[in-house]
Amino acid sequence: MKSLVDQVKLRHGAVLKNRIVQSPMLTNSGDRGYVTQDTLDYYGARSQSAGMVIAEYTSVSKNRGPSRSWADDRTQLALFDDSFKPGMTKLASALKKDGNKAILQLVHSGREANYASKMGRTAEVPSKMDFPWINYPLH
Ligand SMILES: Cc1cc2nc3c(=O)[nH]c(=O)nc-3n(C[C@H](O)[C@H](O)[C@H](O)COP(=O)(O)O)c2cc1C
Repeated sequence: MKSLVDQVKLRHGAVLKNRIVQSPMLTNSGDRGYVTQDTLDYYGARSQSAGMVIAEYTSVSKNRGPSRSWADDRTQLALFDDSFKPGMTKLASALKKDGNKAILQLVHSGREANYASKMGRTAEVPSKMDFPWINYPLH
């Protein structure tokens, strides 16, 4: 029988040092989408929490979100141009410093991205349909 501390070899050859995965959990630690020292401290402190850590819900577009339930746009991490890369590189290093595999959850909030309209931008969606509960423009 497998044990939680047994290694896992993925099909493409990567080896996870145990069978524990930390699921993505928002830290709200970003600054206008950029990784901050708070982000690095949080993930750095979890570099031994699992064989694989999935870093949180990260936007792939400027008009991507955050989702309707969100209070503001500043703290969600983003990665939609090269300016985000240095912070993300540090985040990956913090997660991997003790041998973890690091994964990043990439998301686009689509029609739920109401904060875009609050900021004078337009929420981007795959198809413009009528959603009765959405009271802001969709593109
Ligand atoms: C504080 C917090 C933040 C979370 N952030 C994310 C997230 O960024 N992306 C995601 O897919 N799930 C997120 N989740 C869901 C967790 O990844 C996980 O799937 C869930 O908490 C596990 O299921 P359970 O809470 O029903 O046990 C979050 C959960 C919590 C408690």
